[in-house]
Amino acid sequence: APPEPFTVPLAVPPVLRPVARSSSTDYYEITMRHAEAEILPGVRTQVMAYNGLFPGPTIRATSGRRVVVKQTNAMHHDAVVHLHGGIVAPEHDGHPMDVIAPGQSRTYVYPNRQPGATLWYHDHTHHMEAEMVFRGLAGVYIVEDRSEAALRLPSGPYDVPLMLRDARFDDQGQLVFELGDFRNRNVQLVNGRVQPYFQVAARKYRLRFVNGANERYYQLKLGDDEEMVQVASDGGLLPRPVPTTRITMSPGERVDVVVDFSRYPLGTRLVLANADPDTTDIREIMRFDVVRPAKDDSRLPGRLRPMYGRGRGKPGAVDRERDISFYLDLEMQHFVIDGKHFDPDRIDMQVRKGDVEVWTIHNRDDQFGIPHNFHVHGVHFEVLERNGQPVSGHEAGWKDTVAVPIGGNVRVRVRFDDYRGRYLYHCHLIDHSTMGMMAQLEVVD
Ligand code: C2O
Ligand code: CU
Repeated sequence: APPEPFTVPLAVPPVLRPVARSSSTDYYEITMRHAEAEILPGVRTQVMAYNGLFPGPTIRATSGRRVVVKQTNAMHHDAVVHLHGGIVAPEHDGHPMDVIAPGQSRTYVYPNRQPGATLWYHDHTHHMEAEMVFRGLAGVYIVEDRSEAALRLPSGPYDVPLMLRDARFDDQGQLVFELGDFRNRNVQLVNGRVQPYFQVAARKYRLRFVNGANERYYQLKLGDDEEMVQVASDGGLLPRPVPTTRITMSPGERVDVVVDFSRYPLGTRLVLANADPDTTDIREIMRFDVVRPAKDDSRLPGRLRPMYGRGRGKPGAVDRERDISFYLDLEMQHFVIDGKHFDPDRIDMQVRKGDVEVWTIHNRDDQFGIPHNFHVHGVHFEVLERNGQPVSGHEAGWKDTVAVPIGGNVRVRVRFDDYRGRYLYHCHLIDHSTMGMMAQLEVVD
């Protein structure tokens, strides 16, 4: 049985050390392997994991410096690695058919010509991504940048990635994966531990939340609606901090917040809960215990990063509008996009490099009440509106994943400015993408 909430300490995945560095590049090596992890206290659970760690090691990259990762597949089946939120060339993007066979290696090149942001890397193997991510193939990848460091947000031990997800275990404590089985995944994990507690100092922390769940939505709520200040979303820093008490995250999304624990007397315990109205099974995510005084010279400036500039130009006039529809096709018994399920040999749309496009993404599953979200590779976009309403502060930055409400739509503005070639777009409830709710676009001149 899973432990009682708040009885195990939080674990922070180790930061991976480069095997070599040159003037322009940091080189890393990772082995994907079958391993055992202690997720439930005293139990060895079989996982699939980067370097045997559940979740994988954190990579800290620097904006403007290349990262080269040699991934070796020591598992018994194919694997592919995708850097979610990374703007990388198509051949390094982890296309579902670009597999690394067992015993083989592949070198991925990540240019990091993008501003600081919280990204994550995970498996994307054709028809297998849901199971392989569920079994552990996921890790955090942080891009840091100089101008961000100059803001002096909390850093070092006070900058903590928190990967949230759920899981299902059998009586022996082994992971049970069934496609679409979200109702039975009712053990809540943070960085691979069940509902941990985290002993914090009475000062500011930067918490980088990653929704690494296959299908679960979170609405983060701290204590009795305590203030969290959102400073970044998928694409990195927001123009200015957004104080809030609730943060909604669909699978794949990232949110960085600054929480000032100096506002609470020592001994205070704050539960981070999931207040998502559709979540009835697990509420408590983790607990922050304010245990020690600390000095704090970090800051929370009123301005963070302008929305436009540094490779993210102001959009001009709209060149093209499109509609994209996500739904369950009853006849085909498939999750589809625009009536088609994923075919790796088919290009579903062509987009001209540099064109400004506005996409309206529809969730047409009101009849069954199925949530979907939208994720696209190779670009960050701006969310213009949801169901005709402008989105609020915390979704107003650069995004790569956005929730599409049941029976509703979101409008996003997209401009591919970087590479030509083939990229995926899909629902990031990855059981859905595994079942076909995925398509490809080609960026052309
Ligand atoms: Cu996080 Cu195509 O995926
Ligand atoms: Cu979906």
